Amino acid sequence: MIDYKIITVPDPVLKQQAQPVNKVDDAIRVQMDGMLRAMYDAPGIGLAANQVNLLNRVLVMDLSRRDDEVSEDPSPIYMANPEIIYESEEMSVMEEGCLSIPRQYADIERPAMVRVKYLDYNGNHSELEATGLLSHCVQHEIDHLNGVLFIDYLSSLKRNMILKKVKKLKKQNLL
Ligand code: NI
Repeated sequence: MIDYKIITVPDPVLKQQAQPVNKVDDAIRVQMDGMLRAMYDAPGIGLAANQVNLLNRVLVMDLSRRDDEVSEDPSPIYMANPEIIYESEEMSVMEEGCLSIPRQYADIERPAMVRVKYLDYNGNHSELEATGLLSHCVQHEIDHLNGVLFIDYLSSLKRNMILKKVKKLKKQNLL
């Protein structure tokens, strides 16, 4: 299994647009497996290719392992070329964090419900309807593939404060 390292701000790869995959082949599945492992190890509930220094449109999620709970069975979701095909007018606010912006959190407003079409682990066309945390998570991860971070929704004042805090944590070797 590939041992991926998760990159953090201000790495410029996090601001770049990832490109669609042609198909989900063994190479993509190896990538998905490695990304899921890196996400569990972090631990986190979602990870996009940009965060492991790759620029293809691949993401993984698993909400069953949040809060360090290992009691629940893993239920990984693998997506290639995810695309939001519907979003609700109703909005939802939730606190978000990001493995690439360690230990920083902020309330982010997003459409409460989205429908996403994507290619699954086997390369089959699939759709997911997401609400609640899953909705925030999948939108957050698709944002990554477009070079967008949750801090981009904040005022520049708040964003710079968070970037400064991460820089300080790095300097103190606390990450
Ligand atoms: Ni993130």
